Amino acid sequence: MNLVLLGPPGAGKGTQAARIQEAHGLVHLSTGDMLRAAIASGSDLGNQVKEIVESGALVPDDIIIRMIEERIAAPDCAKGFILDGFPRTVRQAEALDSMLEKKSLKIDHVVELKVDDAALVKRISGRFSCAACGAGYHDAFKQPKTEGVCDACGGKEFSRRKDDNPETVKARLEAYHAQTAPILPYYREREVLRTVDGMADFDGVTAQIAAALQ
Ligand code: AP5
Repeated sequence: MNLVLLGPPGAGKGTQAARIQEAHGLVHLSTGDMLRAAIASGSDLGNQVKEIVESGALVPDDIIIRMIEERIAAPDCAKGFILDGFPRTVRQAEALDSMLEKKSLKIDHVVELKVDDAALVKRISGRFSCAACGAGYHDAFKQPKTEGVCDACGGKEFSRRKDDNPETVKARLEAYHAQTAPILPYYREREVLRTVDGMADFDGVTAQIAAALQ
C-alpha cells in the first residue's frame, strides 16, 4: 500500500505517519525530515534549501521531485510507503504519478487531515521532540510520562524546530492554502481522497485513518 498524508503544517501528519508505519509496516517518507537532515549535515542540498525552509516558503519543485524519486527507488520502499509533506503542489502530484507509473505502482489512498488554522498555531507553538530519537511531544497535549525524559529512548535532551515561530508559521499556512490545497481536487477527481477530522484527539484521528484505509 502506498499512501499520501495531506494537511496543513501541524495537522498531525508526522504523528499519524509514525503510528501507521508501525501498524502496517510501511516506510515513512517525510520530505521535511529529509530537508532538515540535509541542512544539519551541511551538504550542498542542505545549503541550497536552508534559507527557504527556515522562511516557511516551499523548496522548488525540481529539487523535491529529484529527492523523492531517488528515495522511492531504494529497496525498502518496495513494501509500501507513507508520504508525509509530499506532494505539496500540483506539479509534484503529477510528477509522483508519472514516477510511480514507470514502476507499475500507484497511490492507493490520500488521507487529508482537516484542522482549523487557530488549532494549528497552538499545536506548532507547543511542539518539541527528542534530540536523540526524534519522538514528538507537545507542551499541552503530549508531555513525556516522566518530565524531561523521552518515553521512547530515555534521552534527556529536547529540541524545537527553527521554523516553528509565529512569523514562519504564518508563511507556512499561506503556502499551504495557496500552493498545496489545490491538489485536493486533483486527488478527488482520481477518487483516492479521504478526509478525516484532524481536530479529534490522537487516538480518534488514528481510528478514522484506519477506517479510511479499509
Ligand atoms: P514539514 O516538515 O513537512 O512541515 P509541515 O508540513 O509544516 O508539517 P509539520 O511537520 O509542521 O506538522 P505535522 O502535520 O507533521 O504535525 P505533527 O504531527 O508534528 O516541512 C517543513 C518545510 O520543508 C516546509 O515549510 C518547506 O519549506 C519544506 N518542504 C517540505 N516538503 C516540501 C515539499 N514537498 N515541497 C516544497 N517544500 C517542502 O503535530 C504537530 C504538533 O501537534 C505535535 O506537537 C503533536 O504532538 C501535536 N498533535 C498532533 N496531533 C494532535 C492531536 N490530534 N491533538 C492534539 N495535538 C496533536
